Amino acid sequence: MRVSANVLLLAMSFFLGCQTQKGNISNKEKAFKPGSIWNDNNGEVINAHGGGILYINKTYYWYGEKRGKSASEGVAVYSSKDLYRWKNEGIALAKSNDRNSEIAVGGLVERPKVIYNAKTKKYVMWFHLELPNKGYSAARAGVAVSDKATGPFVYLKSFRPNGHMSRDMTLYVDDDATAYHIYSARENYDLRITKLTDDYLSATTEDTLLFSSHREAPAVFKKDGLYYLITSGCTGWAPNKASLHTSTSLFGPWKLVEDPMNGPLAEKTFNGQSTYILPIAGKKDAFVFMADKWNPKDLKDSRYLWLPIQFKDGKPLITWQDAWNLDAFNQ
Ligand code: DGJ
Repeated sequence: MRVSANVLLLAMSFFLGCQTQKGNISNKEKAFKPGSIWNDNNGEVINAHGGGILYINKTYYWYGEKRGKSASEGVAVYSSKDLYRWKNEGIALAKSNDRNSEIAVGGLVERPKVIYNAKTKKYVMWFHLELPNKGYSAARAGVAVSDKATGPFVYLKSFRPNGHMSRDMTLYVDDDATAYHIYSARENYDLRITKLTDDYLSATTEDTLLFSSHREAPAVFKKDGLYYLITSGCTGWAPNKASLHTSTSLFGPWKLVEDPMNGPLAEKTFNGQSTYILPIAGKKDAFVFMADKWNPKDLKDSRYLWLPIQFKDGKPLITWQDAWNLDAFNQ
């Protein structure tokens, strides 16, 4: 009797194992647990901070800062078909060992974002670049390019867009495939936007001040023709209150509206800081708010806070949940 129970268990786990390999997901795996440790397919902790996600060819690619205790170790990339299970695809953009390189070890590569240019068939990465051993004084935008989503990306250049300092940033591609760089300028007092060139590799001179409220960590989404922009305050790695602006044009005017965070620690963005807003492929009006819960004593141990954006009376609401899954968008 005992033997047959064991055999049954073995057969069941073999069956479940095969199912998982075939792509079926277990209920246990089908959950986002904000703030807990998230592992990749190798059972290693995912190291992709200040990140963003590109969806292409039915695959999500998550790019983020690979961090050591404090060191910046380049840009990591993970892939997933379902957003729950992530395959480590290695280093998308490696730091250079050439001391003369702008991305040499000792400098910072922060908040990488990748977009795909259908005309040039290139994957284009922008990030906040700080030069080796110069703290946060360089304040430049860096650009790298690749033929493949997983890289390796080749570093091209860095600059201050139209002469403006450029620290925290995001990229946004609009419905007409025009891309934009939204960035913290003037010691983070200004938030600005630049339209990119058609190949996405450079900034055009269409560059506008959005507002001067001392904000960083911009993250954008669009719903029903209205753009939503979430930002954080500027308190280093420490969490603060998020703010939400809306506009019918990316170039503004932007209107400050109610902070959408809701629940315990909402006034501190649940101890996190915005990094990206992910539209769920194939689901209308389904967006995931992505934030980092930074651990400045050990940056690689910073955690991920992903929460669904819901709409109540037409206004976005981001409510804390210990665990949730994509069924939240079916309700
Ligand atoms: C806040 C920024 O949002 C982060 O990306 C990082 O640059 C820290 N400041 C450094 O203190």
